[in-house]
This record gives sequence, C-alpha cells and structure tokens, in this order.
Amino acid sequence: MSQGLINVAYIGATILFILALGGLSKQETARRGNLFGMIGMALALLATVIGLVTSNYVLLIIALLVGGTVGLMLAKKVEMTQMPELVAILHSLVGLAAVMVGYANFLSHAIEFTGVEKTIHDIETYIGILIGAMTFSGSVVAYLKLSGKWGGKPLLLPARHWLNLGLLILAIYFGVQFVEQAAQGGGLFPLVAMTFIALLFGIHMVAAIGGADMPVVVSMLNSYSGWAAAALGFMLSNDLLIVVGALVGSSGAILSYIMCRAMNRNFISVIAGGFGSGTPSKSSGPATEIEGEVTPINVDEVADLVSTAKEVMIIPGYGMAVAQAQHMVSDITKTLRKKGVNVRFGIHPVAGRMPGHMNVLLAEAKVPYDIVFEMDEINEDFPDVDVSIVIGANDIVNPAAQEVPDSPIAGMPVLEPWHGKTTIVLKRGMATGYAGVENPLFYKDNTRMLFGDAKESLESLFKLVS
Ligand code: TAP
Repeated sequence: MSQGLINVAYIGATILFILALGGLSKQETARRGNLFGMIGMALALLATVIGLVTSNYVLLIIALLVGGTVGLMLAKKVEMTQMPELVAILHSLVGLAAVMVGYANFLSHAIEFTGVEKTIHDIETYIGILIGAMTFSGSVVAYLKLSGKWGGKPLLLPARHWLNLGLLILAIYFGVQFVEQAAQGGGLFPLVAMTFIALLFGIHMVAAIGGADMPVVVSMLNSYSGWAAAALGFMLSNDLLIVVGALVGSSGAILSYIMCRAMNRNFISVIAGGFGSGTPSKSSGPATEIEGEVTPINVDEVADLVSTAKEVMIIPGYGMAVAQAQHMVSDITKTLRKKGVNVRFGIHPVAGRMPGHMNVLLAEAKVPYDIVFEMDEINEDFPDVDVSIVIGANDIVNPAAQEVPDSPIAGMPVLEPWHGKTTIVLKRGMATGYAGVENPLFYKDNTRMLFGDAKESLESLFKLVS
C-alpha cells in the first residue's frame, strides 16, 4: 500500500477515535461511540498490517492469531465484576510492549540517526522504556489489588517520599549517563539500571495507595498506558500511535482529575500514597465506635414500604454487580413505576470497581437513562424520599466520610440516604466495603437491613410487588 493511502487511513482512524471519545461521554451516544472506536481500530490495524511494518508476514500473522485468540478467550470468560482487573492487566501489556520495543530499537540500531537527531531519539527511547516499565509493574500490582490477591491496605514504608525522590534522581542520573554513552555506541548499563528503578517505582507507587483511592489509580494507569503507547509511536516513527497514545493519555489524565474531585482528594496526595489506609490515627481513640443497633427487616415489610411509597431512590453499589441483580432491579423499577411510584437512581462516581460501572449495568438492564442521576444532582432530594434502597453499596453511603474526621474516607462526598424517611440496605452480612471502613448508616434509627444475596432478596420482593 502506498504511503499516501496509509496516511489517509491513519487520518480516518484518528477522526474515528476522536468521534468515539465524543460519543462515550454520554450514555445515549455511548454505543455509537464504541462503534466508531471499533471501526477506527480495524482501519488502523488493516493499514498498519498491509502497510510497511514488516516483510516477515508469517511471524506477524502468527503473533496476531495468538494475541487475538488469547484476547477473545479472556473477553469471553471475564465476568463483569472482573472487568477492572482485566483492564489493569491489559494496561500492563501496553507497558511491557513499550519496554520491549524500546530495547529492540536500541539493540538493533534499526534506524541510524546522527547528531541532535540521535540524542532526541535516545531520549525518546529512554523515556519510553521508563514510562513502559512503570506502567507494567504498577498495573500488575493494581491487578493483584483489584483481584484481592494483594490486600487493600497501603504499604507505607518509612521515608517513602524520600525513596520516591531518590528513585527519581537516580532515573535522571542514569538518563544523562545513557545519552552520553549511547553517543559512543554504548549505554546498555544505564538503560537496564533505569528499567529496574522504574519497575520498582511502579510497584511502590501503587502499593502505597489505599483501597478507597484505587479508582484514581485505575484511571491514572490508563493514562500512563496511553503515554507509553505515544512513546512507542515516537520510537517506531508511527504517527497514529502517537496521536492515539496522546488521546488515551490525556483522557485518562482528565478522568483521574474528575475522580479526584469526586472523592475530594488532591491528585498529588493520592499519588504520594497513604490515603485510605484503614487505620485511624492514634489520637482517634474510641471516636470511631458506632452507636445504635442494627435493625433487620424481612421482604414482606419491604414490599409494604415500597408499595405505599411515593418517592423511592435506588442506590446501587458493587454488591449489585456481584449478585448480577441489575435485571431484577430493572423489573422492580418497571412494576413500581406502573403503580405510580416515582423511582429514581442515585449513582456515586466511584460506585462499583470501575468508572461508570453502575451506569453500564443499568443500561444493560434497560433502565431508562432519564431516571438515573449523578450524586451531585440528587443528594439534596433525600429529605423528600420515602424509601431509599441501597443495593450492595457500602463505602458510597458511609456517613463516616462526614462524621468521623480521621476516617480513611473522611472528606469523600457520599450519597446521603439517611436524610430520607427510611433506608433499606441489601447486603449479605455486616462486612465492610472496599475501603475496609465500618459504616454507621447500618446502625441509624431509620435504617433497616435486608440480609441476603441482593438478587435473591430482590426476586422475592418482585414476586410480592407484582
Ligand atoms: P463497597 O464499598 O465495596 O461495598 C460493597 C458491598 O456489597 C459490601 O459491603 C458487601 O457486603 C456487599 N455485597 C457483596 N456481594 C453482595 C451480594 N451478592 N449481595 C448483596 N450484597 C453484596 O462498594 P461501593 O459502595 O460500590 O463502593 C465502591 C468502593 O470501591 C469504594 O471504596 C471505591 O473507592 C472503590 N473502588 C472503586 C473503583 C471505581 S473506579 N468505581 C475502583 C476501585 C475501587 P456483604 O459482604 O456483607 O454482602
């Protein structure tokens, strides 16, 4: 294929990716956005494969088949609740690819540059491998944390900020060494030394982040993987990779910012680690002890309450995803709305385990978009709500965020169902949520606990209300 045609295909793909991002910003247009993204990616792959990437097509096709098959199998097997882990591990592969391409480029001397151009190319390679190695090890730790194989508590080494600073200074030192030695045809040692430092930094950075701040890490690693792809683009002189990497990198950075705002966190403090440690400060004493008693309720009583209510607010959380209760939620919503009950949904920005998790599940179950509201839009309405139904949510409705100053989630905005008349919480037992923090909501006078698997409880409720 001629270079001109490849360029046209690349420009087309870039436009489709921008349209995809635009589409994904609203639920109504998300499907279209996805479609644009898929067409764009197909076009980009086709142009790259038919183009000039290789003369060894046998190897390329084998690699595509192996990669494609593994990807297909993983995507088919993965449960919706495991999606964040899958995303994390896929990010790690982008990082690994950047490291490998960087080394291949450096060792093969495939493109011969001289003078300033060579220095720029060496810096690109160095930075590409640095971002790639950090993304790789950080994403592997994020994967382990999200899948529960690594505890949610942050690893808070003494003098960890100094350790980070030391690693940064070393990375800069080896960078200078690398550029100097690469000009003489060497440079392998500083490159390998920096790779180890970057791997260590990635592990330390994510290990130091507490459970409640994992959403920010997920989107931050998403952003890093974009920058790693852009670095790959520079190393391979591929414009499309540069543009796509920059799109992913910047949209991930914006998402991280939005997440931080939603959780009332400062981005730098999150990265420095230590938030969400689950260990109250020594001075807190018994301040975190919860007063009140837990009052259970049975399904018949819940059916009576919701059938006679005028305003019902449903607050879904991670437990709804675990129980796969979204379709039952949708059926109950339809039934109650037919009876004239005004049913609305309140969605917390970090409910579940990935950005937009609840919106995706509710859209899958065909809950109308116009009754699904963001936390900021709905929080003031709780005093008028007769019954709030909290389905498998915990941290996102935890009043400790407002009431307990030294709580690990202190300052995080939460949904406030306790201002309504009655709150019904569906969960299996008294376990804490992802952040590992006790929840005083369960002990409030106007809270009732409906214990059991959310889907089973809702199935029983559906039979009674329909
Ligand atoms: P969580 O605080 O994790 O609480 C979920 C609750 O669901 C648990 O307390 C659990 O209690 C209950 N549950 C689990 N399985 C259930 C089932 N089958 N039936 C009924 N209940 C079930 O969830 P949340 O309120 O959605 O908060 C999200 C948390 O995850 C936040 O801390 C957030 O920072 C973190 N996080 C979010 C993201 C993103 S981007 N959204 C990413 C990573 C981490 P029982 O075991 O007692 O049933």
